[in-house]
Amino acid sequence: MPILRAAPASAQLAPAGYPSTPIWAYATATAGTVPGPEIRLSAGQRVRFQLINDLPQPTAVHWHGIRIENAMDGAAPLTQAPVPPGDTFDYDFVAPDPGTYWYHSHNRSTEQVARGLAGPLIVEDREPWLGEPGAATRELVLVLDDWLLDSDARIIEDRWEDLHAASHGGRMGNTVTVNGAAYPELDIQPGERVRLRIINTATDRIMPLSLPHLSARLIALDGHPVTPREIDTLILGPAQRADVVIDGRVDGEARANLLLDPGNGEWVEITGFIHSGDNLPSTGTDVRPLPAWGTLPAPDLSESQRETLLMEGGAMRGMLETRFGGETMGFRKLAANGMVWAFNGAANEMDKPMFRAALGRTVQMEMSNRSVFPHAIHLHGHHFTILSKSGAANIEGDVRDTVLIGADETVEIAFVADNPGVWMIHCHMLSHQKSGMMAWFEVA
Ligand code: C2O
Ligand code: CU
Repeated sequence: MPILRAAPASAQLAPAGYPSTPIWAYATATAGTVPGPEIRLSAGQRVRFQLINDLPQPTAVHWHGIRIENAMDGAAPLTQAPVPPGDTFDYDFVAPDPGTYWYHSHNRSTEQVARGLAGPLIVEDREPWLGEPGAATRELVLVLDDWLLDSDARIIEDRWEDLHAASHGGRMGNTVTVNGAAYPELDIQPGERVRLRIINTATDRIMPLSLPHLSARLIALDGHPVTPREIDTLILGPAQRADVVIDGRVDGEARANLLLDPGNGEWVEITGFIHSGDNLPSTGTDVRPLPAWGTLPAPDLSESQRETLLMEGGAMRGMLETRFGGETMGFRKLAANGMVWAFNGAANEMDKPMFRAALGRTVQMEMSNRSVFPHAIHLHGHHFTILSKSGAANIEGDVRDTVLIGADETVEIAFVADNPGVWMIHCHMLSHQKSGMMAWFEVA
């Protein structure tokens, strides 16, 4: 069985001239890297990896967005016991749907993902797309991350439990990397059409992105195809992915950039696309849509089971009496227990499910954010259709596994609970997950 080893390593994250950064990383045959080695397979293919834990802590691997068999979901301690140091766990599953995914640690993940335990997982298109008329001729995987480094480029380690950060937007970094490097430069030919598979692996940072001069068009979200559409700003919450087609510029300029807004409206260049060679003949303005999945059952809203998810807490709003550990307590006592957020009046209630659904039933869930911070809500084992956002119908009908819900926003989703087992539902701002925004549901 192929090996996936989790172990300490080091990486040159900061620009040249700075020391390298001690990290924790995944490795297959070679030394550990950030991002972890790319795992690439075809839809419906079986994946097998023996995880070897060479970390000083227990760990587990979650295959984010894969509609996976429950026992292989890696959601410790719900679906498996965390793997102790020196021990192994055999992952063996089928990835049913094409698209851009990722894998990451799902134990002590605020710390373990922040230390580097994340990598891309690519499930190839079911029918040929690359090279077809109107499609791209090549693809690039861009794994975006956000690191909190000190002046010696070491990860700041004493803030995993930072409740101040957790009650705000989460533990923010100060160094954004793309494929483990500060501002990589990638070659592109003028007029060349390239598919970008963009993955936000940051623990907490929402990434507003922009690709000016490159005619960027969105073709998939969280692995699921969308009708190709032009995008100006693309907002990726933690764990979200977007597939974007770009055309190399043909105006004679040598450079274009992927830009990120760190939150102050001042766009920062995080990747350069360096143009060289002759202008390629135009591919036309239309972009070929990705082949449909054909694997996801359509929700039946006529007989749906209604559920709600109420998000409360955080700085400037707080929350009322909340259940934690079988006890109802006020804000101060919750905070003393490291809890500053709640789902439906409970903080990290893991001793019973938030709801149960019969296998095959459509669940329709209204998710209301009553806090002043956005949240990236992720459901394990399922993809869901976004029905509406703050009342307005979602005409694009986006299918996702992680949805960003703004302050005071309400999002309605529906999905067919067709995957038996116990599945986590949590905020993918990992600081929020740890401090109250975590629960699970059962499909049986
Ligand atoms: Cu990306 Cu619960 O995970
Ligand atoms: Cu959150």
